[in-house]
Amino acid sequence: MEYIKKQRRLFLDHLSKNTLHSEPVNLYEPIAYLLALGGKRFRPILTLMAADCFDTNPKEALNAAMAVEVFHNFTLMHDDIMDAAPLRRGKPTVHYKWNVNTAILSGDAMLIKAYQQLESYSPSLFNSLTRLLSQTALEVCEGQQHDIDFETRDDVSLQEYLTMITQKTAVLLGCALQMGAIVAKASESDSRALYQFGVQLGIAFQLQDDYLDTFGDPAVFGKQVGGDIVENKKTILYHYTLALGSSKQQQELHNQFASSFSQTNQKIKSVKKLFLETGAAKATQEMIKKYIQNAFRCLDELQIDASKKQILLNFGNAMMQRSN
Ligand code: IPE
Ligand code: IPE
Ligand code: MG
Ligand code: MG
Ligand code: MG
Repeated sequence: MEYIKKQRRLFLDHLSKNTLHSEPVNLYEPIAYLLALGGKRFRPILTLMAADCFDTNPKEALNAAMAVEVFHNFTLMHDDIMDAAPLRRGKPTVHYKWNVNTAILSGDAMLIKAYQQLESYSPSLFNSLTRLLSQTALEVCEGQQHDIDFETRDDVSLQEYLTMITQKTAVLLGCALQMGAIVAKASESDSRALYQFGVQLGIAFQLQDDYLDTFGDPAVFGKQVGGDIVENKKTILYHYTLALGSSKQQQELHNQFASSFSQTNQKIKSVKKLFLETGAAKATQEMIKKYIQNAFRCLDELQIDASKKQILLNFGNAMMQRSN
């Protein structure tokens, strides 16, 4: 879609003019590496779109967009250590290419850099933006801790799972949109509605991420397919397999997740089969649609032009077409 491409170009142009290169090389090179690997740039696009929704030039929201994208990439650098992930955006992860200590420290520097992006705003905007980012960042940490804790639990409820993905992923999409609304000095109620739109969209986004982690095409996915299964992640596919599977299938899943002896490739193959045969894969697709619809309903609360709402709707639909 042309509009989304336009916002992406605007952001990428800003990013290329604001590289975070500096000394020492071993601190800054991994940052530049990860940021240059690409990615879909959905979050900064959301920030720019939100400003535009309230008739503010998206350029005014570029520093906020940059803060969100740098923060997002910081979470990925640390997430890949936590998930023992070898691949990101089709290339080796920072802790693989360099080492874990480098990924920890470069990640820390990125978090600080994210905040620094906001220093260009007036004191009152800076205050609102940093408060929102801090609240969001803490929730992301909470979600990430739950995600890790769940790896070694076998009694995680669907509700606990939904709270976890809301925290680790969805609130950042809400934050990205709300930042654009804050820069545009939107009303409190519009800003809140946009945040809720982002959260519902973000839940759908993480459900789809779980789906793609098993069913994505290795040629385009850019991450290790089956990585969640290897790490015993309690994804939506896992939950649905337990909810829909026969007692034999449930037991089989428990066995696969409990065994530390199974061969990685064999485990991925067996679990993938269970996800398909129990109908978990199909049910996940239905749930994604449900959350997209939830997101679209949030737009009813927004006092903006119908044409602007259409842009947000188009973005939601485009986002769900992703294959990586
Ligand atoms: C990956 O986010 C982390 C999740 C929250 C699932 P993206 O899928 O947006 O990653 P990039 O930035 O496009 O690589
Ligand atoms: C991402 O969850 C959440 C954060 C990075 C905060 P995942 O662990 O599923 O993300 P990917 O799949 O590695 O991108
Ligand atoms: Mg991960
Ligand atoms: Mg993770
Ligand atoms: Mg994932």
